[in-house]
Amino acid sequence: MTPTANSSPSAAVWDAWEADGRSYYVINDTELMQFTRNFPVRSGGIAVDVGCGNGAFSRQLHRFGYDVTGFDFASTALHAARRTPLPGVRYLHHDLNKGDPPGLPRHGIDLVVCRLVLPFLNEPTAWIRRVRDLWLRPGGQMYVVIPVIEGDTTQPGGMTEREIANLTPGWSHSVRYDVRGRVAFLALRSAAT
Ligand SMILES: C[S@@+](CC[C@H](N)C(=O)[O-])C[C@H]1O[C@@H](n2cnc3c(N)ncnc32)[C@H](O)[C@@H]1O
Repeated sequence: MTPTANSSPSAAVWDAWEADGRSYYVINDTELMQFTRNFPVRSGGIAVDVGCGNGAFSRQLHRFGYDVTGFDFASTALHAARRTPLPGVRYLHHDLNKGDPPGLPRHGIDLVVCRLVLPFLNEPTAWIRRVRDLWLRPGGQMYVVIPVIEGDTTQPGGMTEREIANLTPGWSHSVRYDVRGRVAFLALRSAAT
């Protein structure tokens, strides 16, 4: 069974996937260059990496100077992430479909990263709005990476262009760019006040 077997695979499915040593879209220089263009680095900023997997992007955020909390509900992913301990980076177990992580500071996060995770959540559009309205500080940013699928396919793990376009209203600023084929990168900013 793979994470594409249903739209919201369980932690056990992800565990099996991670244990198999599978990797996702590996971070490359182009992605990082675009990221630094769209997300001015705030040294000491607070970042949350949801569905952090093996923590590769969390570690990148650490290099950029963020204090990072990665959340994932798959034990194998968390185990892999914790193999590389770094100061100011922690990996916590949390199922994003079960509400907000305990202790999350309201309106206190500078950057939320949601890389290759959103389509797997039960209610992606409602969830992303909640992040904007309750998690982010005024003017905080969100980085969302989503594989694009055609309207007539039902492949979980991706979203159609129309679904992706529906994510951006209500943000004070949004930029969509594509650095590799059929994957949408969104840089979203919440209103400053
Ligand atoms: C395709 S991987 C992406 C991992 C990482 N963000 C990256 O870019 O490499 C999706 C990750 O989301 C996690 N995930 C999926 N659904 C989740 C949920 N409901 N709560 C927490 N984590 C979840 C999986 O365990 C997996 O580690």
